[in-house]
Amino acid sequence: PANVGIKAMEFYVPQWYVSQADLEQYDGVSQGKYTIGLGQTNMAVCGQQEDINSVCMSAVANLMEKYNIPWDAIGRLEVGTESLVDKSKAVKTSLMDLFAAHGNTDIEGVDSKNACYGGTAAVFNSAAWVESSAWDGRYAIAIAGDIAVYEKGPARPTGGAGVFAMLIGPEAPLVLEPRLRATHMENVWDFYKPTMVSEYPRVDGHLSNACYLRALDICYQRYADKYEAAHGQPWTMDKADFAIFHAPYNKLVQKSMGRFVYQEFLRHPEALPELAPMKDFAQLSNEETYVDRDFQKQLSALTKPHYQKYVQDSEYITKECGNSYCGSLYAGLLSLIDNKAKDLVGKRIMMFSYGSGLAATLFSIKVNEDVSFIKDTVQVKPRLESRTKLEPSTFEQELETRENNYTKFDYQIPQGAAGLRRGTYFLTEIDALERRKYSRA
Ligand code: ACO
Repeated sequence: PANVGIKAMEFYVPQWYVSQADLEQYDGVSQGKYTIGLGQTNMAVCGQQEDINSVCMSAVANLMEKYNIPWDAIGRLEVGTESLVDKSKAVKTSLMDLFAAHGNTDIEGVDSKNACYGGTAAVFNSAAWVESSAWDGRYAIAIAGDIAVYEKGPARPTGGAGVFAMLIGPEAPLVLEPRLRATHMENVWDFYKPTMVSEYPRVDGHLSNACYLRALDICYQRYADKYEAAHGQPWTMDKADFAIFHAPYNKLVQKSMGRFVYQEFLRHPEALPELAPMKDFAQLSNEETYVDRDFQKQLSALTKPHYQKYVQDSEYITKECGNSYCGSLYAGLLSLIDNKAKDLVGKRIMMFSYGSGLAATLFSIKVNEDVSFIKDTVQVKPRLESRTKLEPSTFEQELETRENNYTKFDYQIPQGAAGLRRGTYFLTEIDALERRKYSRA
């Protein structure tokens, strides 16, 4: 099979959100810290009726129903998430209820986990299956998503939620470019979840930013080298049309584009004369450049036009919903499709995936055909605009309830409060044997 990639896309975000401007006031931080400092507008919030199984079920059902995909046409289903509710039983097994109801239980694939990277692992595994000798001619589905919540403190406004479901197969409009994939993995403790009694991660936020940017630098140089080896011609940044980055919060994405351009400047200084002032920082080590404010300020100012050209069209969902961990990179892709639709034909999209701990890959997607049908089917903006705003105090109460109930079982989940959209799956009960039960609104 040729041109393997993404053939269709859908998403699920919860009906609730909280405004970052409201949160600034409520948390008593300086005005602009979350909206300008982090670059975020709103944050998606899940009520206690939603867990990772239910939000993934909603995303899969949306994908299958909206595109009228026959249930027996799926031969593999991969889930990338770090919102585990069980150390053994995969989220994938919950999704099997949907397929079993239509008589299809012949579906390979389980879950992939490594912080925000699992979604990319799911996409890669699904595509590899389609390209392999095991492929039976059916489609794969890759699911990428999480419920991202942090304990009270500076990381909390960088939470969010969302699940992105992608149909993977041959002759796709969004092709994963063969051989153009650069990975960097290492062992660091920037963000991890060592305990099953809390939904919250342990996070060293500033270390995670430095690790992210270091991985980005390495992947950029590696991608460029691999491009040159594969194509026998020099890599230059103008061979890319868009760049989408894993988006914990928008400010980091702005910095990421700056790093891209800076890495390109290190390769071809003559091609980017506007970056010449960066030579003043030559005495800084690479590590120092990740935290030096003057360096970052200068780089941000000089690369603003690049940000506008390469990135701006892909930031809508992540600014509106916050970090959906595994989903966030694919939120960027869906936003870009929603904004650019048919203008994407022939374009190359750079995709940078980062999961703490750490696993990172820079890969690229070539748009071979018009993807307006995805925009028309998904209706991103109407869906986000019809959400319900929560007061920060209600948001905090909801998180407190999630926190208190996290290890609770043998109880019925109080229903009704979450105002779920029609078609949404939700948790009804965790029984005495800690088995979860679901229903659909
Ligand atoms: N107006 C405008 N900007 C402001 C204001 C204001 N009133 N107040 C602060 N800022 C700016 C700061 O100058 C800073 O900008 P800079 O990054 O350009 O220097 C930015 O807002 C953030 O302020 P900090 O003081 O650095 O924020 P803090 O330390 O409180 O928290 C952090 C930020 C570390 C990102 C925290 O939210 C966190 O730990 N998040 C989770 C970790 C994370 O998302 N890591 C990313 C990669 S890993 C992953 O995806 C999970």
